[in-house]
Amino acid sequence: MHHHFLTIPQLGIERCQTILRLAEKLRHSDAVPQLGATVAVAFFEPSTRTRLSFELAAQRLGCHVVSFSAPGSSIEKGESFADTLRTLQAMGAQAIVLRHSASGSVHAAARVLARAALINAGDGMAEHPTQALLDARTLLDVFGSLDGKRIAIIGDCLHSRVFRSDYALFQMLGAQIGICAPPLLMPHLPKDAAVERFSDVDVALAWADAAVVLRLQRERMAAGLVPSLADYRRRYAVTLERIDRSSAYVLHPGPVNPGVELDAAAVEHPRSLIARQVTNGVLIRMAVLIEIVAPELVQQSFHI
Ligand code: NCD
Repeated sequence: MHHHFLTIPQLGIERCQTILRLAEKLRHSDAVPQLGATVAVAFFEPSTRTRLSFELAAQRLGCHVVSFSAPGSSIEKGESFADTLRTLQAMGAQAIVLRHSASGSVHAAARVLARAALINAGDGMAEHPTQALLDARTLLDVFGSLDGKRIAIIGDCLHSRVFRSDYALFQMLGAQIGICAPPLLMPHLPKDAAVERFSDVDVALAWADAAVVLRLQRERMAAGLVPSLADYRRRYAVTLERIDRSSAYVLHPGPVNPGVELDAAAVEHPRSLIARQVTNGVLIRMAVLIEIVAPELVQQSFHI
């Protein structure tokens, strides 16, 4: 068993490359290993894609899946986060997939788990490493390699865990990163960070080989960080016209705010990779579960 899967820098380039290759092998495998492990999916925050794709990935690998959502659980009776995790571990879960709204919660969780391996499915604004891996897998499907490729990340980068994990992984894989965001939603990066900063979305799209569009979290407007949804759309939305004027591929982790950061019809654009991201999400999560629960199979069965 490998221990804990928390952040892209902690995983490092070799484990990331292994998972990316393994996901590709799984795409073409007729039969996948049946791990028979117990996997707990513990979500303290809402989710559709991430949760369902982890559940499906675990089921395809013949795992027993127990699913926990904070609403309706003993959390409502005052049970602590740590006790909930210990309970899942005591039931025999070998892997616990955790989503929580607090940044850094996975590190706190890791300290209470001696046996079960923790998989970060999104912690607050900090990291969402399986999303970055599925985004990278999707880009690799199209480009073969990310070396020197220009990837623009457009939208609320400041509050986005997807931004932070994508940024770390794409850089590791040799891509050039561009950021396009309203001034108050620009991420805090070191002054000398090797990124292109764009204030004009058309310029960013013209520069990019691919654009990752991020959700505008509506509460940012209430907080006064963007003047209005209409203003945001006019300046930063990746509209059909803007996509057609560029040659960039378009990604979005979902859920989309249709007509705010991305046109609803853009999801179906010939250069949209959004459906492929969802498909790859299942493959990446299968790869992560194999790499954690049965790392010996990576070499023995998949020759990676
Ligand atoms: C993202 C998330 O929840 O971090 N979505 C996802 O996992 N598919 C992005 C978002 O919520 O905007």
